[in-house]
Amino acid sequence: AFCFAIDKVIPSHLASVHPMDIGLIRGYGIFDFFRTSHYQPLFLSDYLDRFIRSAAKTHLYLPYTKNELAQIIHDLIQRNDLEFGGIRMLLTGGVSDNHFTPTQGSLFIFCEDLDFPSPSKYEYGVKLLSIEHVRAIADIKTTNYAFPVWHSAIWKKEGAEDVLYHSNGIISESSRSNIFVIKNNKISTPDKHILHGITRKRVLELAPETEIKELSLKDVLDAEEVFMTSTTKKILPVTQIDDRKIGDGKIGPITGKLMEKFFEMEK
Ligand code: PDD
Repeated sequence: AFCFAIDKVIPSHLASVHPMDIGLIRGYGIFDFFRTSHYQPLFLSDYLDRFIRSAAKTHLYLPYTKNELAQIIHDLIQRNDLEFGGIRMLLTGGVSDNHFTPTQGSLFIFCEDLDFPSPSKYEYGVKLLSIEHVRAIADIKTTNYAFPVWHSAIWKKEGAEDVLYHSNGIISESSRSNIFVIKNNKISTPDKHILHGITRKRVLELAPETEIKELSLKDVLDAEEVFMTSTTKKILPVTQIDDRKIGDGKIGPITGKLMEKFFEMEK
């Protein structure tokens, strides 16, 4: 496979990053991740906008324009024959004398195989474990996932798919997905302390009646339906949070319809 590294396309196994890059020693860097379908990068413009915004907000210099990045990506898809796959863009914080101040980082664009949740999870839903946590600089797609990586041993032991973050009982998102809640047939989703997901954006287009509002953990536990959204999970039903079943513990009708509509859209 081939990847783009710094300024050119090279065989992926030859890509390397300096061990003193603050992307590694401080977890300071940004990334983004999207998919291809039938060789087309899905919703590419949105992902590139977010990547460019993440770079600007972290004061990292991205040496390519949106059009240039798109060109590099289309070229990589052809070279790697990536009919259905994942593409990861990464910009590191760079190597610096004081091991702290960002400098010119390294840009990488990698093609990957995709690993979706198993079909049974889409049929029966998954469990989330609630935990008090606020992501740092939440609206930027930084490379810092130390907390959920560390915590994942606990949620796996509890048979949970992932976590549900809350702060003082106000929910935000899951470790790598956004959250939607349905109560009295009304869809709602939080807006604060989250990464604004591209899948979330698509769901808001499919269901423009969705209310964007503050939601408590109690709102979620009392909900009729809950689902999570992300590039790698698409729309995944949540049927249990902690020890509490959501609704009747089965996938609800509104979630089911949105899943159908979304699968139609990304074909
Ligand atoms: N995660 N919130 C966080 C913290 C995320 O990391 C992600 C994406 C999302 C959903 O965003 P989107 O719909 O654009 O994928 C929400 C990616 C998939 C990951 O880290 O693997």
